[in-house]
Amino acid sequence: MRDTTLQVRGANGYDPVTGAISFPIYQSATFRHQALHQSTGYDYSRVKNPTREELENSVAALERGSRCWAFSSGMAGIGALLKLFRTGDHILLSEDLYGGTVRICNAIYSKFGISFEYVDTSDIEVVKASITSNTKAIFVETPSNPMMLVSDIAAISELAHVHQALLIVDNTFLSPHFQKPLTLGADIVIHSGTKYLCGHNDVVAGLVIVKEIPRVIEELDLIYKSEGSILGPFDSWLMLRSIKTLALRVEKQEKNALQIASWLKTLPTVTDVYYVGLKDHPSYELTLKQTTGFGGMISFKVKSAKIAAEALGKLKLVYFAESLGGVETLLTYPIEQTHAEAPKELLARVGVDDRLLRLSVGIEDVEDLKEDIEQALAE
Ligand SMILES: Cc1ncc(COP(=O)(O)O)c(C=O)c1O
Repeated sequence: MRDTTLQVRGANGYDPVTGAISFPIYQSATFRHQALHQSTGYDYSRVKNPTREELENSVAALERGSRCWAFSSGMAGIGALLKLFRTGDHILLSEDLYGGTVRICNAIYSKFGISFEYVDTSDIEVVKASITSNTKAIFVETPSNPMMLVSDIAAISELAHVHQALLIVDNTFLSPHFQKPLTLGADIVIHSGTKYLCGHNDVVAGLVIVKEIPRVIEELDLIYKSEGSILGPFDSWLMLRSIKTLALRVEKQEKNALQIASWLKTLPTVTDVYYVGLKDHPSYELTLKQTTGFGGMISFKVKSAKIAAEALGKLKLVYFAESLGGVETLLTYPIEQTHAEAPKELLARVGVDDRLLRLSVGIEDVEDLKEDIEQALAE
């Protein structure tokens, strides 16, 4: 099955019991057994639930993975992944990264003796030079949040595998519709499902997808059922419903984003535009090589912090809100929101400052979006 068909139909598609083409919400914590050692395959919903299982199997298929686990948030998924590592392990991460990922690493998992190093993963030579004998994983966000840096998934996976390290890719920004890291050599994909996979700003969810690596699958199964940061049946159903329109949404978001990115460059108060779909983006060629689309995320800088701050209050149509990937266009101020707790030194290194705004382009009429953005950014 091709991608768009798979998105609409899902793994099973319909309920095998009743034929319902909207996969049912199995709102049950537990499942009755006929007798000792007789089970339908479902015992208790922390471990397995049919609605969540349909979502997990559908996303595993979309990412070309072997297994998927649906978590109560993207951060719960990242937390589960970090539990794969032990005292003394070293993890390399993209230096331009969602602030919550930096926080969970530095404030929580470093307490257990795991060391985290943030490097420019868009430069393969830097990655090569940063690997040590203790490096057990490389975690990349590509395109990265918020500076839209692109890392070469195939090249980094080769390097990682020479050193028996896992390559983990946060694929939140592009979704499996535009990028499939496992097919490029990555071992694990993580999503904030809250974003493009959900697409309607109404569910917080996380998805972790793994290649056929038995030791990782076994350990994640154990972590998942033991920790219990599971996605509930109703949220799983909302995600299934959302994924049916993934292609329509992300292709329209990309169409709007392409127009807005080049138009932003013409505004007198805009100084820099970061969008992987612009031909002058430093990784435009790499993006063409490893993705089938550019997505709907644009960051840009304005002439002064005052213009940035005032624009947030002047918006009439676009929402000033944290998050991304939904049908509604959102403008975010990374330095005060998504990256507020990231180390200042790290933000300065990648260029996140008080002039930077991040736009998650929705599916509204592009002319309405331009009109609103133009008046908000005017001096
Ligand atoms: C790239 C990226 N990864 C992970 C997360 C965390 O996901 P969640 O908010 O669903 O916990 C976010 C949240 O904004 C994100 O932008």
